[in-house]
Formats: sequence, structure tokens, C-alpha cells
Amino acid sequence: MRKPLIAGNWKMNKTVSEAVDFVNRLKSHIPLNPPGDSFRGMSDVEVVICPTFVTLSEVGKILEGSSIKLGAQNMYMQENGAYTGEISPLMLKELGCRYVIIGHSERREYFKEDNKLINAKIKLALKYQLRPILCVGETLSEYQDNQTIDVVRTEIREGLAGIDEEQMSQVAIAYEPIWAIGTGETATPSDANKVHKIIRKIISDMFDAKTGEKTRIQYGGSVKPDNMSALMEQPDIDGALVGGASLSAESFIRIVNYDKKD
Ligand code: PGA
Repeated sequence: MRKPLIAGNWKMNKTVSEAVDFVNRLKSHIPLNPPGDSFRGMSDVEVVICPTFVTLSEVGKILEGSSIKLGAQNMYMQENGAYTGEISPLMLKELGCRYVIIGHSERREYFKEDNKLINAKIKLALKYQLRPILCVGETLSEYQDNQTIDVVRTEIREGLAGIDEEQMSQVAIAYEPIWAIGTGETATPSDANKVHKIIRKIISDMFDAKTGEKTRIQYGGSVKPDNMSALMEQPDIDGALVGGASLSAESFIRIVNYDKKD
């Protein structure tokens, strides 16, 4: 049984004071260490918040003692050194990060990250017990040219090259069709599931069937409170990487509680 993984990717949004305000609001809805069943995310769903680097410290302090986990949106592929403007996994670790998003399509597009760099980042994240969320997905023109599977296969094979089964147990994949990110367009749940199923097969072929079965594959791209439960009904969709809709505490909570009536 794969535990759903729901991560909020704030991207370049929220100043420190806005982030503090947001997380405090989240806390008022989500009791920390709740007795019983007050918030389902504590037991049967894993919830992660990925704020900007400069807000990680404050957000981490507020989340301390809660089972909402802290994640980063990126990291560099070196521990330290003369890499102006970059952030090392050691720094993320010290701030309490448990997850790190690697290879988001915006990093690939605007910062020219390629699969080789992404692979180096994944290996270094694993070395420091940061769980990578590897993002894969096709552009609109690749989608229209029926290249989705070729694109995700290459991104997965090259992004995860040299990783063993044990390390793979720490990795989650986020399938994010780029044409669906921030556009209000989503793949239909059944179309998304078809790609997820193929991704699982690619992972089974690279590692083994058990690893394929255990790997969590999130869907990302215009996930909202209104479409989350239909996506989650699909057998190979194991959670979501949520951008825009994670910026409001109310909508993020509704997404996390996707199978509960309001
Ligand atoms: P979106 O972003 O939910 O705003 O489409 C998702 C993502 O880029 O991770």
C-alpha cells in the first residue's frame, strides 16, 4: 500500500511574514500531534510544504513537532564551495528538510537543468537523506506529437541512473505535463493514470517489480480542491505536487482532505 504524498510547491511566492502567517493559519486548521482523527494527514497521507529557501527556517520552526514535513524546491549538486547563489543539501538538512523537489520543469526550462545535472542532484540529496521528488513531464508540443512516453522514459532513466533499489525507496516521482502547469488545464484522471502506469513499468524495468509497485508517483499540473478526489481515485496516482492551489491554506487543506466531505 502506497501512502499518498501531497506536497505544496510555493515556487517564488510569499515573503517571510506571509509564509509565517500562512503556516500559522494552517496550524489553526491542523492541530499538531492531534489525538484521534482530527486531521487525516497525520496518519494516512504524508503532507509536505516546500517554501522558498529564505522562508524555510521560519516555516520549519512553526512546523516543528507537527507531522507536516518540510521540503525544498531545489538544491545544488555540491556540498559547499564557490557556487555563488546556490544552496547545499547540508544547509537544507540542518533546517529540517526531509524532501527536495528536483528537476521541476521550471528549473529545466528557465535554468537549463538537464538530466545529467538532475541525476547528480538526486545522488547528493540521497547521500544526505533528503528524499528527492523527481519531476518529469512533456511540453505541449511533445504531447501533441505523441512523445509523452519517450520524454518521461528518458527523464526517468537518465535522472535515476546509478541509483540502487534501496535508494529508490526514498525517491518519489511527480508526473507533471508541462502544458497543465499553472494553466488551469489538467490531464483527465484516466489519461494521467495511463502515464503513471507506464512510469511504474519503466521503474519496474529499471529496478524490479517490487520497487515499481512501491514507488509513489504524484500528479502535478493545476491540481485543485475540485479535481483532487477524481485524480486520487485512479489506482496509479499516489498524491499530488500542488503549485497555485497550495498558496491558500483553505484550498491546500481541502486538497489534503480530498476524500472528506466539507
Ligand atoms: P500548478 O503547479 O499546481 O500551479 O499547476 C504545479 C507545479 O508546478 O508543481
